[in-house]
Amino acid sequence: MDLYEYQARDLFEKYGVPVLPGIVADTPDEVRAAAEKLGGVTVVKAQVKVGGRGKAGGVKVAKTPDDAFTAAQAILGLDIKGHVVKRVMVAGGADIQREFYFSVLLDRANRSYLSLSSVEGGMEIEQLAVEKPEALARIEVDPLVGIDAAKAAEIAKAAGFPDDLVAKVVPVFEKLYDVYHGEDATLVEVNPLVLTGSGDIIALDGKVTLDDNAEFRHPDHEALVDAASADPLEAKAKEHSLNYVKLDGSVGIIGNGAGLVMSTLDVVAYAGENHGGVKPANFLDIGGGASAEVMAAGLDVILGDPQVKSVFVNVFGGITSCVAVANGIVKALEILGSEANKPLVVRLDGNQVEEGRAILTAAAHPLVTLALTMDDGADKAAALANA
Ligand SMILES: Nc1ncnc2c1ncn2[C@@H]1O[C@H](COP(=O)(O)OP(=O)(O)O)[C@@H](O)[C@H]1O
Ligand SMILES: [Mg+2]
Repeated sequence: MDLYEYQARDLFEKYGVPVLPGIVADTPDEVRAAAEKLGGVTVVKAQVKVGGRGKAGGVKVAKTPDDAFTAAQAILGLDIKGHVVKRVMVAGGADIQREFYFSVLLDRANRSYLSLSSVEGGMEIEQLAVEKPEALARIEVDPLVGIDAAKAAEIAKAAGFPDDLVAKVVPVFEKLYDVYHGEDATLVEVNPLVLTGSGDIIALDGKVTLDDNAEFRHPDHEALVDAASADPLEAKAKEHSLNYVKLDGSVGIIGNGAGLVMSTLDVVAYAGENHGGVKPANFLDIGGGASAEVMAAGLDVILGDPQVKSVFVNVFGGITSCVAVANGIVKALEILGSEANKPLVVRLDGNQVEEGRAILTAAAHPLVTLALTMDDGADKAAALANA
């Protein structure tokens, strides 16, 4: 789960990372009141889970509460890369002398943690990595040791911090690692980390991604979930413990086993090239069971996506036989009744495949087409989505 900047700021504060005061607000009037409360120069910042808010006009400096009111009017409702701003944070204004970059993240490829840091902050990190890779220090962090004072100093020196600043950023890096470790995050990023005119180091922007697999250890993380902005289909899938990820295409996908579903996405995208460029609409792994209830829940989620034009059910019978899967599909269509209203292409293979296909053939559901192979099924589903 990605956090909003204000949530990251709160976590930073809890761990003693230096941050500026921040007050969230949902209306221009609340913004004015927040700016009055903070006093002095404030900055009104769009709260959306996407970077580059500054460039998109989502971060505005306000000299007075009235300026803050005007800034809020401009920012609330703004569309930043497809994210509409519903809330802003009014933050204290920093007197920025220099901007730096720091992050610590899970490095899956190396089964380790990685810290990225640079004295060239402010710029988008992706851009920095491409345009000035030498300015970005990459230091491996041993998960068993973490970032202690020695590691923090190694990171700061590698990034090119001058000696007098190394001493200042070391405790900040250590505390940011405490956030990373203490909250089971997979990313803690500060861009920019700034040096102010009075010589203080402050985390001015924060991005935190929490590891959902560790949520059982953090009952308090539940409160950070933003139900209002969660995708309703993903929420419904979660209710049924289905592994669902919404994508942008029009061919709904159901499969069993993450590997098979991933390959199905590839095969459908490939087949789509011959059918107007249609693409998969989702990832959905119904797991091993493929019972009627699970199949119905999966179909229900997929058919609820208005972008979906056809559905490709690609199931390999292993421990669960194709008979159970075929019965599951027939039953699921019964359960859904008139809500099942888009063509389904079904490819079954594996354990008891002939019997499974026979069940579907006998049911002769008007929406269901059988496919013998995965390529054939993908082609048929793509053609139907393009019809
Ligand atoms: N509290 C603040 N005081 C002064 N300037 C700020 C403040 N917050 C952000 N800025 C400026 O705005 C820029 C963009 O803000 P940031 O929070 O990093 O958003 P984003 O990364 O989404 O563009 C920063 O690099 C910084 O120069
Ligand atoms: Mg930033």
